[in-house]
Amino acid sequence: MKILVIGSNGQLGRSLLTSLPRSYPTTIFWDRQALDLTQLGSIRAKLENLAPQVIINASAYTAVDQAEQETELALAVNRDAVGEIASYCAAVDAVLIHVSTDYVFDGTANAPYVETADTNPQGVYGASKLAGEQAIAASGCRHLIIRTAWVFSPYGQNFLKTMLRLGGERDTLSVVADQIGNPTFAGDLAEAIVATLKPVAKGNCAWGLYHYAGDASVSWHEFACEIFAQAQHMGFSVPDTVNAISTSEYPTPAPRPAWSALDSSKFTGVFGRPSSDWRAGIATCLQALGQLSE
Ligand SMILES: NC(=O)c1ccc[n+]([C@@H]2O[C@H](COP(=O)([O-])OP(=O)(O)OC[C@H]3O[C@@H](n4cnc5c(N)ncnc54)[C@H](OP(=O)(O)O)[C@@H]3O)[C@@H](O)[C@H]2O)c1
Repeated sequence: MKILVIGSNGQLGRSLLTSLPRSYPTTIFWDRQALDLTQLGSIRAKLENLAPQVIINASAYTAVDQAEQETELALAVNRDAVGEIASYCAAVDAVLIHVSTDYVFDGTANAPYVETADTNPQGVYGASKLAGEQAIAASGCRHLIIRTAWVFSPYGQNFLKTMLRLGGERDTLSVVADQIGNPTFAGDLAEAIVATLKPVAKGNCAWGLYHYAGDASVSWHEFACEIFAQAQHMGFSVPDTVNAISTSEYPTPAPRPAWSALDSSKFTGVFGRPSSDWRAGIATCLQALGQLSE
Protein backbone atom coordinates (compact mmCIF):
# COMPACT_ATOMS: atom_id res chain seq x y z
CA MET A 1 0.00 0.00 0.00
CA LYS A 2 1.62 3.24 -1.15
CA ILE A 3 0.85 5.94 1.44
CA LEU A 4 1.48 9.65 0.94
CA VAL A 5 1.34 12.22 3.76
CA ILE A 6 0.79 15.81 2.60
CA GLY A 7 1.79 18.57 5.04
CA SER A 8 4.70 16.78 6.72
CA ASN A 9 6.04 19.91 8.40
CA GLY A 10 2.98 20.74 10.52
CA GLN A 11 2.12 19.52 14.03
CA LEU A 12 0.22 16.49 12.78
CA GLY A 13 2.61 15.89 9.88
CA ARG A 14 5.62 15.77 12.17
CA SER A 15 3.79 13.52 14.61
CA LEU A 16 2.94 11.17 11.72
CA LEU A 17 6.62 11.22 10.76
CA THR A 18 7.32 9.76 14.21
CA SER A 19 4.58 7.13 14.31
CA LEU A 20 3.76 6.02 10.76
CA PRO A 21 7.12 4.61 9.58
CA ARG A 22 7.10 2.10 12.48
CA SER A 23 4.28 0.19 10.78
CA TYR A 24 4.48 1.61 7.25
CA PRO A 25 8.19 2.26 6.58
CA THR A 26 7.76 3.11 2.90
CA THR A 27 5.39 6.04 3.53
CA ILE A 28 6.21 9.12 1.47
CA PHE A 29 6.10 12.52 3.18
CA TRP A 30 5.58 15.75 1.22
CA ASP A 31 6.08 19.22 2.65
CA ARG A 32 5.12 22.54 1.05
CA GLN A 33 8.19 22.44 -1.18
CA ALA A 34 7.18 19.07 -2.61
CA LEU A 35 3.58 20.20 -3.14
CA ASP A 36 2.41 23.80 -2.85
CA LEU A 37 -1.35 23.56 -2.48
CA THR A 38 -1.90 27.04 -3.87
CA GLN A 39 -0.60 25.76 -7.23
CA LEU A 40 -3.93 24.14 -7.99
CA GLY A 41 -3.04 23.22 -11.56
CA SER A 42 -0.03 21.12 -10.54
CA ILE A 43 -1.67 18.98 -7.83
CA ARG A 44 -3.30 16.37 -10.08
CA ALA A 45 -0.19 15.75 -12.20
CA LYS A 46 2.06 15.38 -9.15
CA LEU A 47 -0.32 12.89 -7.55
CA GLU A 48 -0.74 10.92 -10.78
CA ASN A 49 3.03 10.77 -11.13
CA LEU A 50 3.49 9.33 -7.61
CA ALA A 51 0.28 7.26 -7.75
CA PRO A 52 -0.39 6.87 -4.00
CA GLN A 53 -3.19 4.49 -2.96
CA VAL A 54 -3.78 6.27 0.37
CA ILE A 55 -3.36 10.01 0.95
CA ILE A 56 -3.27 11.42 4.48
CA ASN A 57 -3.83 15.16 4.28
CA ALA A 58 -2.18 16.74 7.32
CA SER A 59 -1.86 20.13 5.63
CA ALA A 60 -4.20 23.06 6.04
CA TYR A 61 -4.40 26.82 6.24
CA THR A 62 -4.71 27.01 10.05
CA ALA A 63 -4.28 30.72 10.89
CA VAL A 64 -7.76 31.20 12.38
CA ASP A 65 -7.60 34.98 12.86
CA GLN A 66 -5.58 35.78 9.74
CA ALA A 67 -8.14 33.86 7.67
CA GLU A 68 -10.61 36.70 8.21
CA GLN A 69 -8.29 38.84 6.01
CA GLU A 70 -6.88 36.06 3.80
CA THR A 71 -10.19 34.48 2.81
CA GLU A 72 -9.06 33.60 -0.72
CA LEU A 73 -5.93 31.84 0.52
CA ALA A 74 -7.83 29.91 3.22
CA LEU A 75 -10.37 28.75 0.63
CA ALA A 76 -7.66 27.88 -1.89
CA VAL A 77 -5.86 25.56 0.56
CA ASN A 78 -8.76 24.23 2.64
CA ARG A 79 -11.41 23.89 -0.06
CA ASP A 80 -9.99 24.00 -3.61
CA ALA A 81 -6.79 22.01 -3.05
CA VAL A 82 -8.69 19.46 -0.95
CA GLY A 83 -11.25 19.13 -3.74
CA GLU A 84 -8.42 18.53 -6.21
CA ILE A 85 -6.84 15.83 -4.01
CA ALA A 86 -10.26 14.20 -3.55
CA SER A 87 -10.90 14.23 -7.30
CA TYR A 88 -7.58 12.39 -7.88
CA CYS A 89 -8.65 9.82 -5.27
CA ALA A 90 -12.06 9.36 -6.87
CA ALA A 91 -10.52 8.91 -10.34
CA VAL A 92 -8.05 6.17 -9.32
CA ASP A 93 -10.05 4.70 -6.37
CA ALA A 94 -7.45 5.84 -3.83
CA VAL A 95 -8.42 6.56 -0.22
CA LEU A 96 -8.29 10.05 1.30
CA ILE A 97 -7.82 10.47 5.06
CA HIS A 98 -8.46 14.12 5.83
CA VAL A 99 -8.52 16.17 9.05
CA SER A 100 -11.08 18.84 9.90
CA THR A 101 -12.04 20.94 12.89
CA ASP A 102 -14.47 21.61 15.74
CA TYR A 103 -14.72 25.17 14.34
CA VAL A 104 -17.30 23.91 11.82
CA PHE A 105 -19.75 24.21 14.74
CA ASP A 106 -21.27 27.36 16.24
CA GLY A 107 -20.77 26.28 19.86
CA THR A 108 -24.40 26.55 20.97
CA ALA A 109 -24.93 22.83 21.71
CA ASN A 110 -25.39 21.52 25.24
CA ALA A 111 -23.92 18.04 24.71
CA PRO A 112 -20.66 17.06 22.97
CA TYR A 113 -21.02 17.29 19.19
CA VAL A 114 -21.56 14.02 17.34
CA GLU A 115 -20.85 13.59 13.62
CA THR A 116 -24.48 14.12 12.61
CA ALA A 117 -24.81 17.47 14.43
CA ASP A 118 -25.64 20.54 12.34
CA THR A 119 -22.66 22.64 11.29
CA ASN A 120 -22.60 26.42 11.35
CA PRO A 121 -19.05 27.83 11.24
CA GLN A 122 -18.54 31.23 12.84
CA GLY A 123 -15.43 32.34 10.96
CA VAL A 124 -13.66 32.03 7.60
CA TYR A 125 -11.33 29.24 8.78
CA GLY A 126 -14.23 27.04 9.95
CA ALA A 127 -16.19 27.80 6.78
CA SER A 128 -13.19 26.92 4.58
CA LYS A 129 -12.67 23.61 6.43
CA LEU A 130 -16.37 22.76 6.10
CA ALA A 131 -16.17 23.55 2.37
CA GLY A 132 -13.23 21.09 2.18
CA GLU A 133 -15.32 18.38 3.85
CA GLN A 134 -18.13 19.04 1.36
CA ALA A 135 -15.72 18.90 -1.60
CA ILE A 136 -14.52 15.46 -0.45
CA ALA A 137 -18.06 14.16 -0.04
CA ALA A 138 -19.02 15.54 -3.48
CA SER A 139 -16.02 13.86 -5.16
CA GLY A 140 -17.37 10.40 -4.32
CA CYS A 141 -13.92 9.14 -3.21
CA ARG A 142 -13.52 6.61 -0.40
CA HIS A 143 -12.63 8.78 2.56
CA LEU A 144 -12.28 9.28 6.28
CA ILE A 145 -12.73 12.83 7.56
CA ILE A 146 -11.56 13.16 11.15
CA ARG A 147 -12.57 16.34 12.97
CA THR A 148 -10.28 17.24 15.82
CA ALA A 149 -9.75 20.21 18.17
CA TRP A 150 -7.23 22.35 20.06
CA VAL A 151 -4.19 20.42 18.75
CA PHE A 152 -0.92 20.69 20.67
CA SER A 153 2.51 19.11 20.24
CA PRO A 154 6.20 19.95 20.70
CA TYR A 155 6.18 21.26 17.10
CA GLY A 156 5.23 24.52 15.38
CA GLN A 157 2.80 26.99 16.88
CA ASN A 158 0.27 25.99 19.49
CA PHE A 159 -1.35 27.07 22.75
CA LEU A 160 0.92 24.97 24.98
CA LYS A 161 4.06 26.49 23.48
CA THR A 162 2.60 30.02 23.65
CA MET A 163 1.72 29.53 27.33
CA LEU A 164 5.23 28.25 28.12
CA ARG A 165 6.83 31.21 26.35
CA LEU A 166 4.57 33.80 28.02
CA GLY A 167 4.86 32.01 31.36
CA GLY A 168 8.62 32.36 31.18
CA GLU A 169 8.33 36.11 30.48
CA ARG A 170 5.54 37.34 32.78
CA ASP A 171 4.42 37.03 36.42
CA THR A 172 0.73 37.27 35.57
CA LEU A 173 -1.23 35.92 32.61
CA SER A 174 -4.89 36.28 31.68
CA VAL A 175 -6.53 33.41 29.81
CA VAL A 176 -10.04 33.03 28.39
CA ALA A 177 -12.25 30.87 30.61
CA ASP A 178 -15.56 30.90 28.70
CA GLN A 179 -14.54 28.91 25.61
CA ILE A 180 -14.67 25.15 26.10
CA GLY A 181 -13.08 22.49 23.90
CA ASN A 182 -11.08 19.26 23.91
CA PRO A 183 -7.28 19.68 23.88
CA THR A 184 -5.86 16.97 21.61
CA PHE A 185 -2.27 15.74 21.62
CA ALA A 186 -1.06 15.54 18.01
CA GLY A 187 0.84 12.33 18.83
CA ASP A 188 -2.44 10.64 19.82
CA LEU A 189 -4.16 11.93 16.68
CA ALA A 190 -1.31 10.51 14.59
CA GLU A 191 -1.66 7.11 16.32
CA ALA A 192 -5.42 7.26 15.77
CA ILE A 193 -4.83 7.79 12.05
CA VAL A 194 -2.36 4.86 11.99
CA ALA A 195 -5.09 2.72 13.59
CA THR A 196 -7.37 3.36 10.62
CA LEU A 197 -4.86 1.99 8.10
CA LYS A 198 -5.45 -1.73 8.68
CA PRO A 199 -9.16 -1.56 7.82
CA VAL A 200 -8.29 0.91 5.04
CA ALA A 201 -5.81 -1.62 3.57
CA LYS A 202 -8.37 -4.41 3.79
CA GLY A 203 -10.89 -2.21 1.99
CA ASN A 204 -13.56 -2.95 4.61
CA CYS A 205 -13.34 0.38 6.42
CA ALA A 206 -16.46 2.18 7.63
CA TRP A 207 -15.90 5.28 5.48
CA GLY A 208 -17.18 8.71 6.42
CA LEU A 209 -17.03 11.34 9.10
CA TYR A 210 -15.52 10.93 12.57
CA HIS A 211 -14.62 13.00 15.62
CA TYR A 212 -11.34 12.36 17.44
CA ALA A 213 -10.24 14.71 20.22
CA GLY A 214 -9.13 14.96 23.84
CA ASP A 215 -10.83 12.99 26.60
CA ALA A 216 -12.02 16.06 28.54
CA SER A 217 -13.79 19.32 27.76
CA VAL A 218 -12.01 22.23 29.42
CA SER A 219 -11.62 25.98 29.04
CA TRP A 220 -8.43 27.61 27.70
CA HIS A 221 -7.89 28.77 31.30
CA GLU A 222 -8.11 25.21 32.66
CA PHE A 223 -5.83 24.04 29.84
CA ALA A 224 -3.28 26.72 30.79
CA CYS A 225 -3.48 25.86 34.52
CA GLU A 226 -2.83 22.17 33.79
CA ILE A 227 0.14 23.07 31.55
CA PHE A 228 1.64 25.27 34.28
CA ALA A 229 0.99 22.74 37.08
CA GLN A 230 2.91 20.10 35.15
CA ALA A 231 5.54 22.54 33.84
CA GLN A 232 6.37 23.80 37.33
CA HIS A 233 6.90 20.22 38.44
CA MET A 234 9.38 19.76 35.60
CA GLY A 235 11.38 22.89 36.37
CA PHE A 236 9.99 25.28 33.71
CA SER A 237 9.52 28.86 34.77
CA VAL A 238 5.77 29.59 35.28
CA PRO A 239 3.73 32.71 36.14
CA ASP A 240 2.60 33.41 39.74
CA THR A 241 -0.98 34.12 38.68
CA VAL A 242 -3.18 32.91 35.81
CA ASN A 243 -6.34 35.05 35.72
CA ALA A 244 -9.57 33.72 34.23
CA ILE A 245 -11.06 36.26 31.80
CA SER A 246 -14.01 36.31 29.40
CA THR A 247 -13.89 36.27 25.59
CA SER A 248 -15.14 39.89 25.59
CA GLU A 249 -11.99 40.87 27.51
CA TYR A 250 -9.79 39.23 24.83
CA PRO A 251 -11.43 40.04 21.48
CA THR A 252 -9.98 38.31 18.41
CA PRO A 253 -10.61 38.98 14.68
CA ALA A 254 -12.30 35.57 14.21
CA PRO A 255 -15.25 34.59 16.39
CA ARG A 256 -14.82 31.16 17.99
CA PRO A 257 -17.44 28.67 19.16
CA ALA A 258 -18.01 29.09 22.91
CA TRP A 259 -18.54 25.37 23.48
CA SER A 260 -17.19 22.98 20.87
CA ALA A 261 -16.76 19.72 22.79
CA LEU A 262 -16.45 16.76 20.39
CA ASP A 263 -17.80 13.27 21.11
CA SER A 264 -15.12 10.77 19.95
CA SER A 265 -17.08 7.61 20.79
CA LYS A 266 -17.87 6.67 17.16
CA PHE A 267 -14.15 6.68 16.30
CA THR A 268 -13.26 4.69 19.42
CA GLY A 269 -15.98 2.14 18.68
CA VAL A 270 -14.94 1.61 15.06
CA PHE A 271 -11.14 1.86 15.26
CA GLY A 272 -10.50 0.84 18.89
CA ARG A 273 -8.41 3.89 19.85
CA PRO A 274 -9.34 5.76 23.03
CA SER A 275 -9.73 9.52 22.80
CA SER A 276 -6.59 11.55 23.44
CA ASP A 277 -5.38 11.61 27.07
CA TRP A 278 -4.75 15.37 27.16
CA ARG A 279 -2.96 15.36 30.54
CA ALA A 280 -0.54 12.61 29.46
CA GLY A 281 -0.09 14.48 26.16
CA ILE A 282 0.95 17.63 28.04
CA ALA A 283 3.51 15.57 30.00
CA THR A 284 4.93 14.06 26.79
CA CYS A 285 5.17 17.49 25.17
CA LEU A 286 6.86 19.07 28.17
CA GLN A 287 9.38 16.25 28.30
CA ALA A 288 10.18 16.70 24.60
CA LEU A 289 10.47 20.50 24.95
CA GLY A 290 12.60 20.15 28.09
CA GLN A 291 15.01 17.86 26.22
CA LEU A 292 15.17 20.32 23.31
CA SER A 293 16.22 23.17 25.63
CA GLU A 294 18.96 21.14 27.39
N1 LIG B 1 -4.05 23.25 15.29
C1 LIG B 1 -5.27 23.08 15.82
O1 LIG B 1 -5.54 23.49 16.95
C2 LIG B 1 -6.34 22.36 15.04
C3 LIG B 1 -7.63 22.28 15.58
C4 LIG B 1 -8.61 21.59 14.86
C5 LIG B 1 -8.32 21.01 13.64
N2 LIG B 1 -7.07 21.12 13.14
C6 LIG B 1 -6.79 20.51 11.83
O2 LIG B 1 -5.82 19.52 12.02
C7 LIG B 1 -5.00 19.40 10.85
C8 LIG B 1 -3.54 19.47 11.23
O3 LIG B 1 -3.32 20.74 11.87
P1 LIG B 1 -1.90 21.17 12.44
O4 LIG B 1 -2.13 21.77 13.77
O5 LIG B 1 -0.92 20.06 12.28
O6 LIG B 1 -1.56 22.36 11.42
P2 LIG B 1 -0.20 23.14 11.22
O7 LIG B 1 0.78 22.81 12.28
O8 LIG B 1 -0.57 24.58 10.98
O9 LIG B 1 0.36 22.52 9.87
C9 LIG B 1 -0.28 22.76 8.65
C10 LIG B 1 0.66 22.34 7.55
O10 LIG B 1 0.03 22.69 6.31
C11 LIG B 1 1.03 23.21 5.46
N3 LIG B 1 0.50 24.14 4.48
C12 LIG B 1 -0.19 25.27 4.68
N4 LIG B 1 -0.41 25.89 3.51
C13 LIG B 1 0.15 25.10 2.55
C14 LIG B 1 0.27 25.20 1.15
N5 LIG B 1 -0.22 26.25 0.49
N6 LIG B 1 0.91 24.22 0.49
C15 LIG B 1 1.43 23.17 1.14
N7 LIG B 1 1.37 23.01 2.47
C16 LIG B 1 0.73 23.98 3.17
C17 LIG B 1 1.99 23.96 6.37
O11 LIG B 1 3.22 24.09 5.71
P3 LIG B 1 4.43 24.96 6.32
O12 LIG B 1 4.96 24.15 7.48
O13 LIG B 1 5.39 25.07 5.18
O14 LIG B 1 3.84 26.26 6.73
C18 LIG B 1 2.02 23.06 7.59
O15 LIG B 1 3.06 22.12 7.51
C19 LIG B 1 -5.47 20.50 9.91
O16 LIG B 1 -6.39 19.95 9.00
C20 LIG B 1 -6.20 21.46 10.82
O17 LIG B 1 -7.20 22.20 10.12
C21 LIG B 1 -6.06 21.76 13.81
